Amino acid sequence: MKAVVVGLGYVGLPLARAASVAGVEVVGLDLNLRVVDLLNAGRSHIDDLSSDDVSEMVANGFTATSDAACIAEADIVVICVPTPLDDSGSPDLAAVIGAAKAVEQHMQPGLTVVLESTTYPGTTEEILKPLLENGKRICGVDFFLAFSPERIDPGNEKFTIVNTPKVVGGVTPVSTQKAAAFYSKFIDQIVEAKGTREAETAKLLENTYRHVNIALVNEMAQFCFAMGIDIWEVIRLAKTKPFGFQSFTPSAGVGGHCIPIDPNYLAYKVRADLDRPFRFVELAEEINNGMPPYVSRRLQDLLNDHSKPVRGSTVLLLGVTYKANISDRRESPAMPLAKRLLDMGCTLKFHDPYVESWEVDGRVVEKTDDLEAALLTADAAIIVQAHQEYVSSAERIGASTSPILDATGKFSGANVERL
Ligand SMILES: NC(=O)c1ccc[n+]([C@@H]2O[C@H](COP(=O)([O-])OP(=O)(O)OC[C@H]3O[C@@H](n4cnc5c(N)ncnc54)[C@H](O)[C@@H]3O)[C@@H](O)[C@H]2O)c1
Repeated sequence: MKAVVVGLGYVGLPLARAASVAGVEVVGLDLNLRVVDLLNAGRSHIDDLSSDDVSEMVANGFTATSDAACIAEADIVVICVPTPLDDSGSPDLAAVIGAAKAVEQHMQPGLTVVLESTTYPGTTEEILKPLLENGKRICGVDFFLAFSPERIDPGNEKFTIVNTPKVVGGVTPVSTQKAAAFYSKFIDQIVEAKGTREAETAKLLENTYRHVNIALVNEMAQFCFAMGIDIWEVIRLAKTKPFGFQSFTPSAGVGGHCIPIDPNYLAYKVRADLDRPFRFVELAEEINNGMPPYVSRRLQDLLNDHSKPVRGSTVLLLGVTYKANISDRRESPAMPLAKRLLDMGCTLKFHDPYVESWEVDGRVVEKTDDLEAALLTADAAIIVQAHQEYVSSAERIGASTSPILDATGKFSGANVERL
């Protein structure tokens, strides 16, 4: 079997590797020439794969290219391109449309096409299908089309692409079967969906569920702090209930490509088709977007307790990625938090073993590598992400003489205040 994976990022590259390990002949197609060159040279550009992993793929016959002609040889094409929001906050499907047009130009009869990019319900049948049919072909006869939501969790060592069940929903039953047959070569459990819309919406339900529950706990954290109740203890107690409760933890805000963006795809579709707001999504967004300003106010209060203003103080941010133990900074809450603190006039520094350099609104933030020395000289610090390096140094962090605001709930000490 020959597969082409379109879009070799956080989603496409691990998929290409899993298929390649299972003996599928894989070609990776990406518009970014730097990514193509890096991969062909056996070098990885994402957290979840090492350069050794990529070298092994190349040795197994994997190649990357920016030439869509490779599609002519394929039995299956899987599209894993970005689905961001445009400047007005609406879904931007330009990459999906671009990929579909490239596939249409080169596809041969019998091809199976699968979309993995997170998107609103209807995209596969209303946008992809007509582009691929293009008045010349019939879906289910000349080619097969399915949607299969991507469920990768960067940095998660327990659940990988292989042991995370894969939902597959085809435009026709044969489309579902063909896509499921491909994934079953390297994924333990395939879950067949009734159709593409259900598969598309399942992904959005998963992400909206996280978004809403994170917002719930973030709002509770604010109330609890104001009422002198320890939210972390509350969560520890609540999660002893063995049924009906899943714990979420407060944070400096949500980040990454999924949680802050995907629920908007669903809200957009609800608004477009039904002319109704999706109130849960809007509320969750409001609360989660309010966390960086809330954290900056808490920092201001903490400095005030030490008779210091924010202006002129040196503030150290620990962990500026969007989650712990990865280098991805997309939509990281550290960014709006830093912006606010810089606007308030502090001298900002950051420490992050995963990030080489960091700019906020065109302003270069000084990186410090010596955590202990930086903690000693800072007027205050905020732990935004609990990277493993910090958890391993929890005792030293807890002994800090400078005040620390811990947005992760993983640290304690005389001068550590949790969110
Ligand atoms: N990263 C995650 O953790 C995650 C999790 C769940 C879902 N998703 C979804 O998966 C999709 C892909 O996300 P990602 O994180 O892998 O993105 P990414 O930005 O890491 O990678 C996308 C790649 O696609 C390439 N590309 C863009 N347009 C192209 C085109 N027309 N043809 C060929 N290549 C093209 C880019 O150059 C880039 O290398 C998105 O819809 C995202 O919402 C991502």
